[in-house]
Amino acid sequence: MKTSFLVKNYNRKELSFKRGKGSYLYSSDGKKYLDFVQGIAVNSLGHAHPKLIKTIKDQSKKLWHVSNAFQIPEGEILAKKLCNKTFADYVMFQNSGAEATEAAIKIARRYFYSIGKPKKNRILCIKNSFHGRTLAAIYASGSKKMTEGFGPKVAGFDHFIFGDHESLKKKIKKNTAAIMVETIMGEGGIKVIPSWCLKELRKICNQKKILLVIDEVQSGISRSGDFFAFEDSKIKPDIVPIAKGIGGGFPIGAVLMNKKVAKTMTPGTHGSTFGGNPLAMAVGNTVLDIVSSKKFLNNVKSLSKYFISNLNKIKDEHPNLIKEIRGRGLLIGIQLYKDQTNFIKKLMDKKLLSIKAAENVIRILPPLNVKKKEIDLCLKIIRKTCQEI
Ligand SMILES: Cc1ncc(COP(=O)(O)O)c(C=O)c1O
Repeated sequence: MKTSFLVKNYNRKELSFKRGKGSYLYSSDGKKYLDFVQGIAVNSLGHAHPKLIKTIKDQSKKLWHVSNAFQIPEGEILAKKLCNKTFADYVMFQNSGAEATEAAIKIARRYFYSIGKPKKNRILCIKNSFHGRTLAAIYASGSKKMTEGFGPKVAGFDHFIFGDHESLKKKIKKNTAAIMVETIMGEGGIKVIPSWCLKELRKICNQKKILLVIDEVQSGISRSGDFFAFEDSKIKPDIVPIAKGIGGGFPIGAVLMNKKVAKTMTPGTHGSTFGGNPLAMAVGNTVLDIVSSKKFLNNVKSLSKYFISNLNKIKDEHPNLIKEIRGRGLLIGIQLYKDQTNFIKKLMDKKLLSIKAAENVIRILPPLNVKKKEIDLCLKIIRKTCQEI
């Protein structure tokens, strides 16, 4: 008998929740889970954060939505804060990560169009990266699995293999407009692009006079311990799509950019009905104020150090099971030698929620305000699971 009217485009677990608080979720059948998925790096402040509840309550009584045909002061404030904290001169709000990366592609192409080089429109990406699920984004990601059955192919994307610097240089052609990479490949298995590589990428883009787009949808908004993961390299990208963490659970996407490219986005070149509405912007402002302070970032860094060093101890205790501990900040991957599905199930049986990434990686994504004792509980469950396997 049909039990669900939802399309089966997700492989959902037999588990639902009725409420959440901080790092914990409470299931419909009355069990308590340590949630180290947090909506896949979305709930930066965990579930039901009092300041976010207050913001939504207050703003919902005043104004939810107006069209971008009018001024939206809450969005002006958030854009100004984002620019003051980062490389960016301007911000354009969207609703999701895929929309933000898609808009980033449009901006890169539009820039070259506006300087009389419309044929310079190809975007060079990492093979099997992840930039979202819109048509352009799946072809940008260059994944066979994601594009299968969705042809015709969206033109304009080239790919190089992660870490293959020679192929990267060869793939830059006369009609390349931009290189687009994730600082830390999230879905791709928590693979970090080292700072020296990002510096090289910036140098290459300068030499070739092309744009550098850095997708910080998953790694951004303090998840890495810096506001943006690329900050460690001291480079300045041209365009940065963000989403996930900035809304703390409320759907917000945005593209940050420098003035050189922003100039080309004249009225009518892009738009969104919902993007940047007052309710979303109020939430974004509250999240940003909390997660971007020096004190908050230092705490993410020190929790990360503690977490990763203890995971490495577990790895040393189980050298035939765990291949590598990857990641930065609270974007952490445990890479196994074999398929991770069973391990994730065993963690879930012990009331710890984690999620898959490519290359046999178990992704651990606690809220950024996670408590040390919650990390200890997670470590205890992982150690016990390793002993059982
Ligand atoms: C790096 C990166 N870019 C883009 C996206 C797409 O974001 P969304 O699912 O909000 O469309 C994701 C989502 O996981 C992501 O990790």
